[in-house]
Amino acid sequence: MDVIALDDPTAAQVRQWHDVVTAVHAADPAGEPAPEPEQTAERLLGCGSRLRLWAAAGDGRLAAVAVLRLPGEPGAVRPAEIDIKVRPEDRRRGLGRRLLAAAAEGLRADGRSSVIAQVLAGTPAVPFLESHGFECVLTLRGMLLRLDEMPPGRVARLLAEAPPGYRLVRWQGVVPDEHASALARVKTAMADLAEYEGTPWDADRVRETAEVVAKRGDDLYTVAAFDGSAIAGFTEVVVPLGCAGRAAQYDTAVAPEHRGRRLGIWVKAAMLDWLAIERPEVREIETDNVGDNTHMLAVNEELGFRVERESLEYQAAVTALPAFR
Ligand SMILES: CC(C)(COP(=O)(O)OP(=O)(O)OC[C@H]1O[C@@H](n2cnc3c(N)ncnc32)[C@H](O)[C@@H]1OP(=O)(O)O)[C@@H](O)C(=O)NCCC(=O)NCCS
Repeated sequence: MDVIALDDPTAAQVRQWHDVVTAVHAADPAGEPAPEPEQTAERLLGCGSRLRLWAAAGDGRLAAVAVLRLPGEPGAVRPAEIDIKVRPEDRRRGLGRRLLAAAAEGLRADGRSSVIAQVLAGTPAVPFLESHGFECVLTLRGMLLRLDEMPPGRVARLLAEAPPGYRLVRWQGVVPDEHASALARVKTAMADLAEYEGTPWDADRVRETAEVVAKRGDDLYTVAAFDGSAIAGFTEVVVPLGCAGRAAQYDTAVAPEHRGRRLGIWVKAAMLDWLAIERPEVREIETDNVGDNTHMLAVNEELGFRVERESLEYQAAVTALPAFR
């Protein structure tokens, strides 16, 4: 079995890659819909961050694949992201380790100092990463809100319980220029939950993030609670292109000085109220919650979100990764 770089994959290689993804998904579906070939192709060829790809190949097929996402410019402080998939029948033969070693070379070549991986709790990925220098830095609870199961009137009641002194503003897509700096400031307030993100938020990064969503063809909705011209709290939901009923919760944050006034649940209720009119096809909203973020968990549970799965974010220093031989 050879480890090969696939930096410019052919259509046939993208198909073979998809076969590996499908085989891994079938063995461990984790409640998510099976990936479509177009999604795999989009992931490998689509725009967004720079990618490096490797595969373990032999007998005319791929046994394992690895994708390394390199956000920002070479040498950026932000960690890269690694995802390795080995066909179930080819596991425990060192393929995962060899692909990780190849990715480590790629990380060094790009001047990166660390890498993260997001994996499901209770799967082989946990002992694999822990035996290769990774440490768990975050626990994320995947939660789902089924809108049909919400008691009638709950959204209207929460929306009516407006914290005094705030007003709601909402927009679709990129933030209007007059609010861009205010949004960057409150996004920085989330940094205490995701220290590894490193890069500070400014108006340009806020716009860039929204533009990446738009380029994919997805729709970003934002609801913010204003205190004068400052954003005290906000919430974002993305409705994917060709939405099959499931939207994704993106960021929600309340600035530290405005916490404890039920602003988080208010902006989320306002979002549900808006989506019901604007995007009635949305039946479910999924979200990831940082495991120790008890306030956000409580808000989501009050809204009706239920825990579906637990994922873990692992991080390693590039110096701790295996060497390529
Ligand atoms: C996680 C995964 C990539 C490991 O691939 P692999 O080729 O089986 O891993 P390797 O054979 O290189 O294992 C190297 C070491 O990791 C550890 N390890 C890997 N799988 C393990 C398991 N199921 N239980 C315990 N330890 C394990 C062992 O220390 C192993 O060394 P050993 O076999 O000599 O004991 C594979 O199980 C997989 O594709 N899982 C599904 C996708 C996924 O979750 N990917 C993780 C994203 S980074």
